[in-house]
Amino acid sequence: MGKNGAMDTDSIATPIVSGTTHWFKSSHDLIAFKEGRRHSFEYGRYGNPTVKVLEDKISALERAESTLVTSSGMNAIVATLLALVPPGAGHVVTTTECYSEARAFIGDKLSKMGIKVTFIELNDMETLKDVLDQGDVTLFYTDCPTNPHLKCIDIKLVAELCHHKGALVCIDSTLASPMNQKPLTIGADIVVHSATKYIAGHHDVIAGCISGSDALISRIRAWNHDLGGAISPPT
Ligand SMILES: Cc1ncc(COP(=O)(O)O)c(C=O)c1O
Repeated sequence: MGKNGAMDTDSIATPIVSGTTHWFKSSHDLIAFKEGRRHSFEYGRYGNPTVKVLEDKISALERAESTLVTSSGMNAIVATLLALVPPGAGHVVTTTECYSEARAFIGDKLSKMGIKVTFIELNDMETLKDVLDQGDVTLFYTDCPTNPHLKCIDIKLVAELCHHKGALVCIDSTLASPMNQKPLTIGADIVVHSATKYIAGHHDVIAGCISGSDALISRIRAWNHDLGGAISPPT
């Protein structure tokens, strides 16, 4: 294994590392790992060399510093919201037109954690400005294009408005795929996918992914370790 977990192999096909637990060859190696001087995946719930190759490929597609691959698209959405929106103090703005399970999680479950939730019409920028003026918005969340009606939002404008008021922007870009839209390049802070759809492409894999800056993805990664949302490498 190379630096930062890159796989040392000249195989054209990426080897599937199915082991769940990784050796430390000596106490010296273990101490170096604990002190942050040596990389190890340590345990499969925290990461895996095969999954890391996929994460790096998705980062390249999305022009992201970092990507976390998860066990499903909903896992990606829930881990992102739990990691980035503080219970009891956060405020999520989302849209009435949005993937139904994400909308239900935000409306029913986040609100029970003391998180304020505001729904706006997809392209109602005047209401978005008014809500942002309250000064407490943590994160704006929507799909673009939306499921099921394939409506789009002006991501660049939304990001400008949100950043001006200190709010993050998370876009579910599943139905565009990274081939047609790269939300991070036009201002979004986080892009999520149900990789079950176009990224996997063959109706035989359930997966999700989250891309963004190193700083944001490492916060979400830490949460996902607790949620146990790791994807199995043979997937
Ligand atoms: C736009 C969108 N986001 C997220 C999801 C959830 O993804 P998954 O089924 O992989 O958990 C779906 C699933 O249909 C979806 O269409």
